[in-house]
Amino acid sequence: MESIKVGLLGLGVVGGGTWKVLARNAQEIARRAGRNIEVTRVAVRDVAKARKLLGDAVAVGADPYAVVTDPSIEIVVELIGGETLARELVLQAIANGKHVVTANKALLAKHGSEIFAAASARGVIVAFEAAVAGGIPIIKAMREGLTANRIEWVAGIINGTTNFILSEMRARGLPFEAVLAEAQKLGYAEADPTFDIEGVDAAHKLTLLASLAFGIPVQFEKAYIEGISKLAAEDIKLAERLGYRIKLLGITKRRPEGIELRVHPALVPIKSMLANVEGAMNAVLVKGDAVGQTLYYGKGAGEEPTASAVVADLVDVTRLLTSDPEHRVPHLAFQPDAMADTPILPIDDVITSYYLRLTVADQPGVLADLTRLLADSGISIGSMIQQPTDTASESVSTSANDFVHSADLIFLTHEAFERNVNKAIAAIEALPFVRSRVTRLRMESLA
Ligand code: NDP
Ligand code: HSE
Repeated sequence: MESIKVGLLGLGVVGGGTWKVLARNAQEIARRAGRNIEVTRVAVRDVAKARKLLGDAVAVGADPYAVVTDPSIEIVVELIGGETLARELVLQAIANGKHVVTANKALLAKHGSEIFAAASARGVIVAFEAAVAGGIPIIKAMREGLTANRIEWVAGIINGTTNFILSEMRARGLPFEAVLAEAQKLGYAEADPTFDIEGVDAAHKLTLLASLAFGIPVQFEKAYIEGISKLAAEDIKLAERLGYRIKLLGITKRRPEGIELRVHPALVPIKSMLANVEGAMNAVLVKGDAVGQTLYYGKGAGEEPTASAVVADLVDVTRLLTSDPEHRVPHLAFQPDAMADTPILPIDDVITSYYLRLTVADQPGVLADLTRLLADSGISIGSMIQQPTDTASESVSTSANDFVHSADLIFLTHEAFERNVNKAIAAIEALPFVRSRVTRLRMESLA
């Protein structure tokens, strides 16, 4: 049978990996797909550099439109990243009747509704396994394997760069900047690494997971996003002492009032599976009503792990080419005319437990006042520790409480509304004996 012709947009970390895996495993892949998968045209910016990897067998150019308009190409693989050009190219490929494989979560989280609608109208497939959690087949699992379930929540470590940074800071005491540079060198980080550090990349992926879990349109703009750049090394250490690890989590949860969609650092119990996901590894926990919790774990970034997902999509598309469009698995797991309009909840309405750290004057009545204030705000304390403040801030002298020593207090609360916790924090920070801002981190039991 004639080989299927593929056009590749981009030959960087993921594009290069895809080329290598396709070449190395060509026979095995053809046995699975039923046809040879052949890259016949590639677009990059630096053509000479690409030639070194590709040799002369493939047409290489700097014009990506030449790929999406080439009549011989059946599948376009978009691996250039970014939103503007990628959106134009993907829409043009679809308009030209080509199937698309992409690893571009930013593109789909923001323009997914438009792209999937265009693909459905044209009867072509947009496959995006590599867009979430690199090599882990989480899209396939959620779209097909878990299809019997009413999904209750999804929680995951879905950004390799930040997990690598947090792991190295905790285990080796390395400074943030040095570990970030290492993650960039290893090809984990986005072209703009603030996407990783500030939680934006994880939110792109979580947006897609929420759609697959709950049958809602992609709504990246409603996600709550907090990254790791403001995290203090002191809290990483303290969390460990208390039996927790801090991870950047993406969490989406179905509640009667709506859907939580949030990315932020969170304390997770040290014995939980997610606490032990280290380095650039990713893991996604999915809770379904029938199956219970299932865990998907593997390399979330990097050349060949991501290529593994891209090539899996190429095989899938090749296998599906002969089926009628209406008999294919829907892009977002649910039929397009059966999407729900369940609202995404604002972060104020989120319910979780909290780690609160603050410095106070070490004097009688302080704890009583703080616990009363928390109780009045409907916040129940799970546990509390007090420790002397390190000497740098110890000898505070104010007219009100001259030479009173300072103490650090850490409260772990039971579940509470975020709105109540924020109000309580504002009131606590206004108290005369409180000598710091309150550090607030969310906690997830993942039970
Ligand atoms: P790279 O920066 O390594 O590669 C980008 C490639 O696109 C390069 O080959 C570049 O060409 C080419 N390119 C960029 N702009 C143009 C243009 N205007 N015309 C033609 N070619 C262009 O990115 P990655 O491979 O890391 O990422 C690609 C996509 O995969 C992104 O969407 C990313 O979010 C996603 N992704 C990345 C993962 C990873 O681990 N890196 C994991 C999962 C998804 P040249 O080399 O000549 O400059
Ligand atoms: N920058 C991303 C990460 C790449 O670190 O997880 C994989 O999507």
